Amino acid sequence: MSYAVAVLGAMWGDEGKGHITHHLSKTFDWVIRFNGGANAGHTIYRDGVKYVHNLMPSFDWRKTDLKAFLGSGMVIDLEQLHKEVSLLWSHNTGYPSRVYVDPDAFVVLPEHKEEDKASNGHIGSTNRGIGPAYTARTARRGLRIRDRMRDADNNRDQHFIKEMQRMGVHFKSALEMRREMESASLLFEGAQGVLLDINHGIYPYVSCSDATIGGIYASGFAWARPEKVYGVAKCYTTKVGEGPFPTEIHGKEADELRQRGNEFGATTGRPRRVGWLDLPALDYACQKGGITHLILTKFDILDGMDRVKVCVAYDKPPVSSSDFFDAVPQYITVPGWEDSKDHDQLAPFVRQVERLTRCHVSYISAGTDTKDIVSW
Ligand code: IMP
Ligand code: MG
Repeated sequence: MSYAVAVLGAMWGDEGKGHITHHLSKTFDWVIRFNGGANAGHTIYRDGVKYVHNLMPSFDWRKTDLKAFLGSGMVIDLEQLHKEVSLLWSHNTGYPSRVYVDPDAFVVLPEHKEEDKASNGHIGSTNRGIGPAYTARTARRGLRIRDRMRDADNNRDQHFIKEMQRMGVHFKSALEMRREMESASLLFEGAQGVLLDINHGIYPYVSCSDATIGGIYASGFAWARPEKVYGVAKCYTTKVGEGPFPTEIHGKEADELRQRGNEFGATTGRPRRVGWLDLPALDYACQKGGITHLILTKFDILDGMDRVKVCVAYDKPPVSSSDFFDAVPQYITVPGWEDSKDHDQLAPFVRQVERLTRCHVSYISAGTDTKDIVSW
């Protein structure tokens, strides 16, 4: 029987999922992306070199028997995927032959990106064509990779598909892979975060995919049933794009936190909005996302702060995403930490998180190196 675990973004994305997934991937056979597209920017550091994966799962390709799967819940820009596969090829990793793509995934076409740019208003889309591609799917006029492969006319996607096949990439559905995967260990990697989920995020300031555990089921992996679902959150909060952000801070304090945390978008380079950890929002995300365990990241960024602010309640607990629009956050401060490597110093903060989310904190991360991720 397979053993399946999931890693989801618990907030508005950019929580450090890439770094965590990359680290955890070493003990799995497969890393599987199931939602979103090239709007994601998963930053990982490998042998001191920084990589940003947009479509490719955050696997550690140095583990030579690790395989990657891009699921049918994604929307895939084949030109972009071809670029990422070519990068692997140029690193001589042998990895392209360990990459599998579900041909039931829908494609992002150039016109979707154009449409995204033209209509981009207050949502602050990443302009990667994600919304228009999912809209086409829902309106039953979308095209799947499978359709592009079959097309009689020699379309541009066929060129990218053939090139990728030449490098070793497989195009196989989740069901075709089931037998092999059932005797393997699977790590599902979410993109974006629960608060950006199309159903449960803060609508309409959301992305268009399923960022909760539901996305795993929706992409044809109902049989895999992850038994542990990690939610990743920073020890403070960030957001790109507009929409309610109850614990947001402004001015000099915000600029300083943004600089310290290098909070600029991995995909778009935009400065991220920043604020304090929002526990009512995290609790909401755990419940809506199916999160069973937490992983907290970027503790090193707050090193040296005397006291740290945490939002522990709103004027009323959020039971719907609409409750975030007029939420009045209530804060406490807990003792800060001089050195995030010293767990005793972090304990008062972590205790508040566990108390108010009723989730166990399993790992914490305090730096960009793999050794900075430790069990709590
Ligand atoms: P879209 O997914 O490009 O349509 O963008 C919709 C909203 O989700 C915008 O506010 C984006 O900034 C946000 N968003 C999409 N993907 C990510 C991500 O990976 N990290 C953070 N925000 C994201
Ligand atoms: Mg990101």
